[in-house]
Amino acid sequence: AEGDVAKGSKVFKKCKACHAVGEKAKNKVGPQLNGIVGAGWGEVEGYKYSKPLLAGKEEGKSWDEATLDAYLTKPKKVIPKGKMAFAGLKKEQQRQDVIAYLAQFNKD
Ligand code: HEM
Repeated sequence: AEGDVAKGSKVFKKCKACHAVGEKAKNKVGPQLNGIVGAGWGEVEGYKYSKPLLAGKEEGKSWDEATLDAYLTKPKKVIPKGKMAFAGLKKEQQRQDVIAYLAQFNKD
């Protein structure tokens, strides 16, 4: 299923309490997410990640689409004891849409 950027921007409202994207994005409760699709885990400067996320970084893990999809389905399944307090997106289409939206911010 292809993601829809416009729908993804609406899904991203669920993320905005903790994450920003775009030109003036800053770290909030969670790291800013510019360039996150395909990035390595834990690379955002100035953000204090949990130990289990940093352990994944040490192992060379990255946010490819499959890993992002799994994390957004159930964060605690991908990073047990990670600190993203988000239940997850149950609908595959919503995950595809928000990933398509995030990928827009890989281009500038
Ligand atoms: C981490 C995406 C919702 C808090 C992350 C990371 C991604 C992500 C990709 C890893 C960043 C990295 O490795 O640099 C999303 C998306 C969301 C969402 C797409 C909505 C669908 C939320 C919400 C909160 C939150 C609602 C707060 C209640 C965090 C925190 C981390 C994080 C604290 C750091 C995790 C750690 O260090 O273990 N998020 N997130 N996120 N997110 Fe979210």
